[in-house]
Amino acid sequence: MESPADILKITNLSKSYPIHKELALPVLQGIDLTIKAGELTAVMGPSGCGKTTLMNLISGVDSADSGSIMIRDTEITTMNKSQMAVFRRSHIGLIFQDFNLMESLNVKDNILLPLFLDNHSQYGEEMFQKICKILSICDITDKNITDISGGEKQRTAIARALINHPQIILADEPTGNLDAKSTKDVMEYLTDINREFQATLFMVTHDSYAASYCDKVILLKDGKVLSVLEKAQNSRKIFLEHIYEFLKQIGGE
Ligand SMILES: Nc1ncnc2c1ncn2[C@@H]1O[C@H](COP(=O)(O)OP(=O)(O)OP(=O)(O)O)[C@@H](O)[C@H]1O
Ligand SMILES: [Mg+2]
Repeated sequence: MESPADILKITNLSKSYPIHKELALPVLQGIDLTIKAGELTAVMGPSGCGKTTLMNLISGVDSADSGSIMIRDTEITTMNKSQMAVFRRSHIGLIFQDFNLMESLNVKDNILLPLFLDNHSQYGEEMFQKICKILSICDITDKNITDISGGEKQRTAIARALINHPQIILADEPTGNLDAKSTKDVMEYLTDINREFQATLFMVTHDSYAASYCDKVILLKDGKVLSVLEKAQNSRKIFLEHIYEFLKQIGGE
């Protein structure tokens, strides 16, 4: 079988932050990675190793010092802010750790917001119904954001990230604020969505259990890719053991 096309290709990506006049903190130091369409990938690594920085570069929220980020055939590191905003809205689904929902809008309008921004609201209803069904939020779509639970907020944020049929979904700790049961639910929803829409998921997590739902785990350390663990034909449980084992060997997270 022909292997699916690469959806994300990162080459020699570097980023540092200025910390003093002539001093910069190197955060990402030559990251190379390739993600195939439809893959579920988790990025793990110690706090401060650059996971969110990497997400911000891929989503174009921040710009790289050097290197290349290709999403399909588009080089995004050379885009200006407004080009990137348009590209992001039509190609990337973003899921933030703090959900980033608008409290003045109800659940449905939050989900449809990306379509309103591009005047595409008329295209959304069928997709909206389909996503709500998969995420089990059909009954809460008229509710205010302030009146729903953390898990429901997370699912609303996932629905909003999907409404534009993005080529890739970027999620920074999508289960970071959730208890074990909600974490399991969200990862199962994300797996269902991956299957239903062939959506590619690239997520940051500290949670080995959440990572075990993915096809591969990329471990970052000291601004570099330390290792890539593949689930291959293993069950989720066996993959979870491999992740635990690896993290133990390198001295935990
Ligand atoms: N805007 C910024 N200006 C200066 N330094 C920054 C900025 N953003 C991040 N950093 C620094 O870059 C490093 C990487 O930060 P980043 O947020 O990418 O880490 P992380 O791996 O996501 O950590 P965590 O697991 O705690 O979320 C940290 O040392 C952080 O202090
Ligand atoms: Mg982070």
